[in-house]
Amino acid sequence: LAGDKKVVIVAPKSIVASFGASFPSKYLLIEVEDGEEQKSMQSFTKAIEKLAAAKLDRSCLIIGVGGGATTDLAGFLAASYLRGVDWVAIPTSLAGMVDAAIGGKTGLNLEAGKNLIGAFHSPSAVLIDQGFLSSLSQRDLKAGMAEVAKCGFIDDTQILDLIEDKWRENLSELIFRSIAVKARVVSADFKESDLREILNYGHTLGHAIEKHSKYSLRHGEAVALGLRFAAQLSFEFSGLSKEHLDRQNQILDTLELNAKYPRASWSELLEIMRNDKKMRGGRIRFVTLSALGVPTRLEDISDQQLEKCFLESIGE
Ligand SMILES: NC(=O)c1ccc[n+]([C@@H]2O[C@H](COP(=O)([O-])OP(=O)(O)OC[C@H]3O[C@@H](n4cnc5c(N)ncnc54)[C@H](O)[C@@H]3O)[C@@H](O)[C@H]2O)c1
Repeated sequence: LAGDKKVVIVAPKSIVASFGASFPSKYLLIEVEDGEEQKSMQSFTKAIEKLAAAKLDRSCLIIGVGGGATTDLAGFLAASYLRGVDWVAIPTSLAGMVDAAIGGKTGLNLEAGKNLIGAFHSPSAVLIDQGFLSSLSQRDLKAGMAEVAKCGFIDDTQILDLIEDKWRENLSELIFRSIAVKARVVSADFKESDLREILNYGHTLGHAIEKHSKYSLRHGEAVALGLRFAAQLSFEFSGLSKEHLDRQNQILDTLELNAKYPRASWSELLEIMRNDKKMRGGRIRFVTLSALGVPTRLEDISDQQLEKCFLESIGE
């Protein structure tokens, strides 16, 4: 892939500490902060100035090695530098492998919200090596499983069977199947005009919680809370059966994604959802399920009804 191109590796400190010794020394290394901190305008500016200082031309190749935050940043650098250069994603977290590195969305966070700046810019390749997961914390592994489970809830219900039957032993197949779900949806609707929206199941409230928690929760942990809320909405308004609602929630329990969120935070969460970039025509719109594997959409639910679903599903 690199051929004789000038190559730049973008990686966070923790990955450089563990794997940096194996990066070819002729490659320019841009080391960034870990976690969401690297998805800031400051970190982006510092990194793109380094590309310019190295006088890289349009034939360079940027390789993002790290979790989803790193591939989001590396992809956005590649989309922006000289109006677009090639890039390759090497996701090292489960969330990165099954979600962030797939589908061509890249971006940064602004003070006003998550992923408010970004570009659709597909990598030339995504290289997945499950071996990276051996050093990933249990917390990050379980958080990544929220996105795997989501792919089962919205589309491939065999994923749910595989989670129920010893998910750790089935991890390779779960990764493969989750990528297949995302790749299928994204290929049909690259710029999220309709179908791609189903990937946001659990994310409307999930993103709000992530921001409200000041990013102290992992993306997947916040999404798991959002999935429980979205399933409750689905049960109340979209025809999801009690049996399917319980199955979804038991799967999240199996993954130990069973946190609650303070009841008192509801009005702030609602406000954050209203300001979400995915709002259309001033209405909060949710992806819900009419059955496991069958997504649908929901709009025009009153604030009181939303609050009731929040309290019943995850409020404490
Ligand atoms: N572009 C998209 O379509 C898309 C989709 C989903 C999520 N995302 C983004 O991805 C991010 C979440 O991804 P994430 O959970 O990977 O976050 P992350 O990149 O912050 O990684 C989580 C933590 O794990 C560490 N880590 C990663 N790989 C490791 C390894 N192999 N060994 C040890 N530590 C390792 C990281 O350094 C970090 O501290 C969010 O910013 C989210 O918005 C993007």
